[in-house]
Amino acid sequence: MTQPITPGHQPAPPAPESTGLSGWIDQRLPIISAFKAEYIHFRMPRNLNGLWNFGAILTIVLLLMLATGTFLAMHYTPTTAEAFLSVEAIDRQLAGGWLLRAIHMVGANLFLAALYVHLFRGLYYGSYKAPRELLWLTGLLLLVMVMATAFAGYILPWGQMSYWGADVISKAVGAVPVIGGTLEHILAGGEALGDIFLHRFFVLHFILAFLVVGVVGLHVAAVHVSGSNNPLGIEPKTPKDTVPFHPYFTSKDLFGLVLFALIFALLLFFWPGLLMEADNYAPADPMHTPADIEPEWYFLPFYGMLQSIPSKFGGLLAAAGSLLVLFALPWLDRSPVRSARFRPLCRVGLIGLVVSFVLLGLVGEHHAAGGWMLLGRAALLYYYCYFLVLLPLASRIEKTRPLPASIAAAQGEG
Ligand code: HEM
Repeated sequence: MTQPITPGHQPAPPAPESTGLSGWIDQRLPIISAFKAEYIHFRMPRNLNGLWNFGAILTIVLLLMLATGTFLAMHYTPTTAEAFLSVEAIDRQLAGGWLLRAIHMVGANLFLAALYVHLFRGLYYGSYKAPRELLWLTGLLLLVMVMATAFAGYILPWGQMSYWGADVISKAVGAVPVIGGTLEHILAGGEALGDIFLHRFFVLHFILAFLVVGVVGLHVAAVHVSGSNNPLGIEPKTPKDTVPFHPYFTSKDLFGLVLFALIFALLLFFWPGLLMEADNYAPADPMHTPADIEPEWYFLPFYGMLQSIPSKFGGLLAAAGSLLVLFALPWLDRSPVRSARFRPLCRVGLIGLVVSFVLLGLVGEHHAAGGWMLLGRAALLYYYCYFLVLLPLASRIEKTRPLPASIAAAQGEG
C-alpha cells in the first residue's frame, strides 16, 4: 500500500548512520535525529507567506522575556514600600539595568502585538478547523496565560496605574454574584491591596511565564503532528506541494526575525516610552485616584467591553465571553473551506470583526459614555454576532470560490 503524503513528515527515513559523538549520543537518546526530522527534513507547504513567521518570532521573544525577567527578578523587591524604588534603582543605578527593563517592557508590548497577528492569521486562513482544533485550543490557552502574565507583570512596579488597574479588576471580580466578595478577598489576599497581593502577583507572574513555555511545547508539538496550514487552506497532495523546513523556512524565519528585531531596536532605542503609561512613573497612592484609569493598549478592547455594559458583572461576562467564544470556534464554523480567500462572506465579516475590536479599544480609551457607549455596544454586538450568527450561517449559505487542485497547481506548477 502506498503511504499518503502527510503534511510534515516524509515516509520514515532510513536509520541514521551512527558516526562520531553525535551518533553515539543519538543511539542512546535520539534527540539529534528527532531534531533533524522536525526541523531539517520536515516538509512544509511551499506557499507560506510572511504571516507564518510569527510563531518563530513569538518563540524568540518569549525566550528574551524569560532571560530579561530572570535578571530583573534578582533586583526587584515585592513589597509595597520598596517595589517602586527597586524598579527605579534598576533603571538608574544597576549597570545596564535600564536596557534590561526596556527590553522587558518593549518586549511585552511587541509580544502581545505579535500574538494578535498570529491569532488573526489563524482566523483568516481557518487554521482552527480539523485536524488543528487542539492546536487552536492550546494557542488560546497560551493567549489567556500570556494575558494573565502581562497583567500580573504590570502590577509589579507598583506605580499609580499598577495600583488602580488592579483595583478596577479586583472590584470587577467582586461584582460576581454570591461568591464575588470571597473571590475579591482571595485575589487581594486581605481587605486592601497590599504586600500580600503584590507578593502573590510577583510569584504568579514568573510561574505563569514558565508554564507558558510548557504549553508552547504542546502547541508546537501539535503543529508538527498536523503540519502547517497554508494561505490556500488545502492540504498538500503531492511532494511537489511541499519543501523541506531547512533551508527554505530556516532562512525565511530568520529574515522575519531580523525585520522584527529592527522594529524592536527602533522602539527600544528611539521611543522607549512610546507605549508606556506616564502615570505609572508615579508611585502607587491609594488616596489619590488618577483622572484617567486606563490599561495597556493590548487590554483596551476588553476594557471597552467591560465599560460598554452598565452592570459590572455584565461587563465582566462580556469581556470573558469574548475570549471563551474563540474556544468554540472550530465547532461554530462548519464550512468545509478553510481559507477566507475563498469565502467572500467570511472575509467581509472578518474585516468587520477587526474594525469592531479596534473600535472597542477606542471606547476603552475614551471611556464608554454618551456616543462612545453606543458605539461600544454596537461593536460588542457585532463581535458576538460574527461568531454566533454569521459564521454558523455562512457555513450553510455562503457561495465559496472554487479551490485550486493543489498548492503547486495554484502556483502554476500543476
Ligand atoms: C506564547 C504564544 C505562542 C507561541 C510561542 C506560538 C508558537 C507557534 C509556532 C512556533 C507555530 C508554528 C509556526 C507558525 O505557524 O507560525 C504556531 C502555529 C500556530 N499557532 Fe501559535 N503560538 C502562540 C500562541 C498562539 C495563539 C494565541 C493562537 C490562537 C489561538 C495560536 C494558534 C496557532 C495556530 C492555529 C497555528 C498553526 C497555524 C497554521 O499552520 O496555519 N498560537 N504557533
